[in-house]
Amino acid sequence: MPKKIIAGNWKMHKTAPQTAKFLDELISKLPFTEAQVVVAPSFVNLAEATALTKNTKITVAAQNMHQAEAGAYTGEISAPMLTAVGVNTVILGHSERRQYFGETDGNLVAKVDSAMNHDMTVIFCIGEQLADRNKNNHFNVVEYQLRDGLFHLDKKFWKNIVVAYEPVWAIGTGETATPEQAQEMHAHIRGVIAKSYGADLAKNVSILYGGSVKPENAQLIFSKPDVDGGLIGGAALQVDDFIAIINAI
Ligand code: G3P
Repeated sequence: MPKKIIAGNWKMHKTAPQTAKFLDELISKLPFTEAQVVVAPSFVNLAEATALTKNTKITVAAQNMHQAEAGAYTGEISAPMLTAVGVNTVILGHSERRQYFGETDGNLVAKVDSAMNHDMTVIFCIGEQLADRNKNNHFNVVEYQLRDGLFHLDKKFWKNIVVAYEPVWAIGTGETATPEQAQEMHAHIRGVIAKSYGADLAKNVSILYGGSVKPENAQLIFSKPDVDGGLIGGAALQVDDFIAIINAI
């Protein structure tokens, strides 16, 4: 069975005091859940977040990282820098990184490899643009992103891989994919993985949905057989909303 995961991608939100306040409240209110709960603050707040969540079930993730171990890459962060502050999970390939920061399939492969070299867990984001869906090309686009970013990996690394399907047209728009649309694409993703790696491996890969998940729509989306949780943006910034979504899995 794939692990159930609720991950909050904070993007460029929350200062250090706001991070501490949020995490104190989340820790005090966190319900019992079988799901893994992940928060992804900005780089500058990761060390404090890992210190604050040390004796809790909350996992702290980074929102990105560079593929090099070290070097003249102004403004970048490496895997060794993340693991040194207790961060062993990283979101890679988010559509905003692809759209605004020129993330390419090539450097994503290198980033995934660096994360594997440091035994990190990768939440790998894929998802089509509205234009792809309107041309009924969304299954091909998602399959290509999946193959191009992950299918160089040996089977043994897939225990460290989580896939997040985030239709770009649903991110931050309030336009959520229907539960049926999410299930259809998640089943497609699992099928593509099974074709290359076998059904046994595919059935244990956690596939998260992201794109305007809210307390009012989470339960229906998470009820689908191939939806193993969510990668949450806006709703993850409010403790009560994030907890409502955790309770929905
Ligand atoms: O990574 C999750 C994010 O892209 C989804 O954002 O605000 O639509 O939940 P949001």
